[in-house]
Amino acid sequence: MKIKEIYDTMVYGPAPESANPVHEWLDAHDSTFQLFIDGTWKAPGSGVYFDSMNPSNKKGLAKIAEANEQDVNDAVEAAGKALPGWVAMGGHQRARYLYAIARQIQKYSRLFAVLESMDNGKPIRETRDIDIPLVARHFYYHAGWAQLMETELKDYKEIGVIGQIIPWNFPLLMLSWKIAPALAMGNTVVLKPAEFTSLTALLFAEICQQAGLPKGVVNIITGAGATGAALVNHPGVQKIAFTGSTEVGKIIRRAIAGSGKKVSLELGGKSPFIVFEDADLDSVVEGVVDAIWFNQGQVCCAGSRLLVEESVAETLYAKLKIRMEQLIVGNPLDKCIDIGAIVDKVQVKTIDELVKQGVAEGCAMWQPARDFPTEGCFYPPTLFTNVSPSATIAQEEIFGPVLVAMSFRSHKEAVALANNTRYGLACSLWTENINLALDIAPQVKAGTVWINCTNMFDAASGFGGYRESGFGREGGKEGLYEYAKPKVEDTFSDKPVLTAKSKAGAAVSANNHHPDIDRTSKMYIGGKQARPDGGYSMPIKNSAGAYIGEVSEGNRKDLRNAVEAAHASSAWSGMTGHARAQVLYYIAENLAARREEFVQRLVQMTNQNKSDALLEVEKSIERIFTYAAYADKYDGMAHSTIQRNVTLAMPEAIGVLAIICPDESPLLGFISTVMPALAMGNQVVVIPSETAPFSATDFYQVLDTSDVPAGAVNIVTGKKDELAAELAKHDNVDGIWYFGNKEGSKKVEYLSTDNMKRSWVNYGKYRNWLDPAQGEGEVFLRHATQIKNIWIPYGA
Ligand code: NAI
Ligand code: MG
Repeated sequence: MKIKEIYDTMVYGPAPESANPVHEWLDAHDSTFQLFIDGTWKAPGSGVYFDSMNPSNKKGLAKIAEANEQDVNDAVEAAGKALPGWVAMGGHQRARYLYAIARQIQKYSRLFAVLESMDNGKPIRETRDIDIPLVARHFYYHAGWAQLMETELKDYKEIGVIGQIIPWNFPLLMLSWKIAPALAMGNTVVLKPAEFTSLTALLFAEICQQAGLPKGVVNIITGAGATGAALVNHPGVQKIAFTGSTEVGKIIRRAIAGSGKKVSLELGGKSPFIVFEDADLDSVVEGVVDAIWFNQGQVCCAGSRLLVEESVAETLYAKLKIRMEQLIVGNPLDKCIDIGAIVDKVQVKTIDELVKQGVAEGCAMWQPARDFPTEGCFYPPTLFTNVSPSATIAQEEIFGPVLVAMSFRSHKEAVALANNTRYGLACSLWTENINLALDIAPQVKAGTVWINCTNMFDAASGFGGYRESGFGREGGKEGLYEYAKPKVEDTFSDKPVLTAKSKAGAAVSANNHHPDIDRTSKMYIGGKQARPDGGYSMPIKNSAGAYIGEVSEGNRKDLRNAVEAAHASSAWSGMTGHARAQVLYYIAENLAARREEFVQRLVQMTNQNKSDALLEVEKSIERIFTYAAYADKYDGMAHSTIQRNVTLAMPEAIGVLAIICPDESPLLGFISTVMPALAMGNQVVVIPSETAPFSATDFYQVLDTSDVPAGAVNIVTGKKDELAAELAKHDNVDGIWYFGNKEGSKKVEYLSTDNMKRSWVNYGKYRNWLDPAQGEGEVFLRHATQIKNIWIPYGA
């Protein structure tokens, strides 16, 4: 036999990892698991248990308790009881616990890896080398943040009891992403694993016991959607953190709208994997394997849409098919297999239906000829070519080992195709040209961009989506803000903070007739004054009840025009931070020049003393300076991940941001909200104070003379809450801020769910805009941006 023949005929023998330690662990528990509440194991109130199975052989592994509402109450109560002690022990003690948990995870890493593989169907190679090491890393990393919280986040405090709901695709890893930062920041948690994969979470509960974690700090309740819903709706929970389908993410967003509960949502994706013609195609092939066949493609950020430059498309498809022929589908515990089992037969069915639909819609389907097991929940690696961008399989998340390929001719087309999705989780870019990569990276709407790599994760880097992929980040410093809130929030008032009225009251207003009294103020759209579409105006009275003028009553059409004008104005977002700062300083200068006029206006509208009005104008000028200063200083970061990369955490503008201003402090409230948004490069559609709109409508004169590009600021006046509702519903608005009452806050959160726009509302809690601690600062910048993490190989 020649050596070449040996190579050609050689097959890998099976190299199975032993399942014995898992069976011993299961036996020790009689294969039955209770709920982990208040540090002990509690039988479910319902008495109901459901099965968890091994998808590679469809055999039952264990019976798992199903938590009902009473159990959820108990768990939330336990977490609430544990909270004060957990906060009071301070960051250093919490760091010790997190560190101890990390150590325990490493100690039991093989048991965790085998258990995860059996419960989920993942290859042992992945659980052993990726999932579990990353879990330990997450706890180590966040032990560090617990230690540093009091110095690095000294203006922040815990949020409280956190409800956490996770999916089945990375069961223990998602648990660690949720629990580690929450505990580090002083919160206590109630976590619900996915019903297909509860076991590693239950083993984790035992680790918490062994680490001596105080009772009630971590509670694990098992169950399905109804259990999750009970947790979401529980009034004792201050925040919900969810990873899962966009559909359920939207249900949750709507369910808690207006409740004041914070929320972070890590949802689905249809992430592009873009290959330019100068890419190293052999590396690309391995990248594709990691992008779509890692974890059987059940990855929210899977590179499921392969976009290839036309000149190399056929070559790449041919290479891919050769590689696909080599992929071994089989027993997840076999160290030699590439693709394990799909989590459940339900998911196999979903995948199969979508694949059939792809074929029915005329896309070309290809699967390798190699045999694959038929007993368990398996699905072969699948490639679709000849796919139109509107095909169902090009738009819907398949969440399986199915790759959908399309080609492009120009870089512009590549970006358009990449962004032709409602999602925005991740993107992989492949080119040997760093200039090209860094030209495309900012144009793709995605929370993570991997350059010549894919599916890289680390605790030090934030991860999370744009658009319908959800909001919030997990990991990195940016992820901590999901679990900590500014201390100053506790000082907000239940009523609007108003400036005292002048004793002279009505007399002042009578004496201060503005010269424009007979005129109806116009709106400001696309850099021009605009009359309202409906032709209506609204009378405005001062706070003593005297009529002072008319304001245009904007409607849906006006808002549409404003949003369109904002989108058309790319000049603003394209400017450097320095250039934006110059414009903001110019605005401040022009406001200062008109100081007297604005003081008059404020006195006329609010009946405040002239000296108070002057203070509001001066504070406004000062605040513009603050954000001009920040425009080129709100830097990103270069994260130190464990891979050989620089991971650039770049704050990007949200896009078109709708801002509904507070009624109180009519000038300063307008400035305090619009300026940070502008400083960060957003185009804004602003609804000024409904009761005192004129200092905003006067402001167009300042904007006109300050080199603000047309469309960067658009002002629509009218009924605040009606306009807010329209903007919340609007599909082309990327984010919305609302400062008003409770009811309006709820409506905005509820209505903004359709396109998952970022929303920031005040739940009827009012700031004192004159107080810089409440009225300005980084928190405004954070809400005006979202972080994109760009992974670039470095020092490799
Ligand atoms: P799912 O979104 O229903 O489940 C995720 C978690 O949410 C589970 O723990 C589940 O019990 C819980 N849940 C379900 N309904 C709930 C409700 N009304 N309130 C609170 N919690 C609730 O996802 P599922 O059904 O397991 O998978 C369906 C599809 O979702 C997949 O085919 C895939 O496309 C997508 N998916 C995306 C994931 C991601 O990481 N982005 C993860 C899992 C699924
Ligand atoms: Mg299972």
